[in-house]
Amino acid sequence: MSVSGKKILIAVSGGIAAYKIHFLIRDFVKKGAEVQVIMTPDAEKFVTKLSLSTLSKKPVYTDFYGDNGTWNSHVELALWADVIIVAPCTSNTLSKMVHGTCDNLLIATYMSAKCPVFIAPAMDLDMYQHPSTKKNLELAESYGHYIIPAESGELASGLIGQGRMAEPETIVKKIEEFFNSTQHKTLEGKTILITAGPTYEAIDPVRFIGNHSSGKMGFSLAEEAAKRGAKVILISGPSAEKTNIQNIEIHRVTSAKEMLEEVFQFYENVDVAIASAAVADYAPKEVAKEKIKKNDDNLTIELIKNPDILKTMGEKKNHQFLVGFALETQNEEENAKGKLEKKNLDMIVLNSLRDEGAGFKNDTNKIKIFTKTEKTEFDLKSKDEVAKDIFNFIENQLLK
Ligand code: C5P
Repeated sequence: MSVSGKKILIAVSGGIAAYKIHFLIRDFVKKGAEVQVIMTPDAEKFVTKLSLSTLSKKPVYTDFYGDNGTWNSHVELALWADVIIVAPCTSNTLSKMVHGTCDNLLIATYMSAKCPVFIAPAMDLDMYQHPSTKKNLELAESYGHYIIPAESGELASGLIGQGRMAEPETIVKKIEEFFNSTQHKTLEGKTILITAGPTYEAIDPVRFIGNHSSGKMGFSLAEEAAKRGAKVILISGPSAEKTNIQNIEIHRVTSAKEMLEEVFQFYENVDVAIASAAVADYAPKEVAKEKIKKNDDNLTIELIKNPDILKTMGEKKNHQFLVGFALETQNEEENAKGKLEKKNLDMIVLNSLRDEGAGFKNDTNKIKIFTKTEKTEFDLKSKDEVAKDIFNFIENQLLK
């Protein structure tokens, strides 16, 4: 992982966290990056141009108009950068960025940029929680920018809570990870199909049979594959998850039957297929046309088996590398290995609901991976980290 030789434009706005930017610049410069700092006029009240330019070894700009009648070109600055980091990003600067209020050099530079933009917000507790801040951060994400969330702790106001700018080490790590993933497009040229989320099986026009799957694991897998350069076809059941990463083509479906149909639109031409969806095993035999009335004490709904999408993929497999998931509550390993065999898979990812932090809804997961010959255990990690482990494993298998 390296930022060596990278051109990093640090855009500082006027918050107390600006003092931490000295450490950020020093870290990047030590790692061999070229750093250019620009500031809003207010930022100068917190830190001096002299200290920042001494560390970055370049003049620091706040204004379009330089000394001796020169002009600081926001376009040149923007096109020079491999990445822009707005840190600290105040509520004011965030709002100007997302709404295009271009009244200073920092915003003009940001608006002229074509490179990735990272935003490290820093605000007081209530400002960070304000609906307008949340909306603006969402807007920034919808433009494809990366948010480095504020951390919790004691704030300059004396209040305690979320709002502190992420520590310089965290920011450096994010940027390193970003360059690392873009430098190593290990799945370039591959097409990967992923199923995600639950399925809903209609009982009547207002009710359904479903499950607690959030779709988080499938979306993390899709994002990781896309970061590694793959073309991703993500077929998701009803899930609140969203993504704005390029290279991910999302197809939203509701029922298992719809998921099956959508999968087989693409299956023939994919290199890897991963079934992480929690597909409902049964669906009502008939869907009532009108809302079922509450008449009798008992209501019986006849269920019939849904198609097993993954099993069908296994039957039709020719060149695809096929990955299944097993979410188990008992005899976990035995059941997972059974599914590997029965569904003709190349690998299966097991998560047990008996492991704390694993399975549905959580942001974390704890997995074991089985192939026909190997078993590998992993620690409890965030679903994004788990997605990395899964793709590292898949890539090794593809090389065999
Ligand atoms: O047999 P079981 O449902 O436990 O297997 C789980 C695996 O099979 C998961 O990968 C899941 O996505 C997939 N599956 C499927 N279609 C179904 C049921 C499960 O693709 N109807």
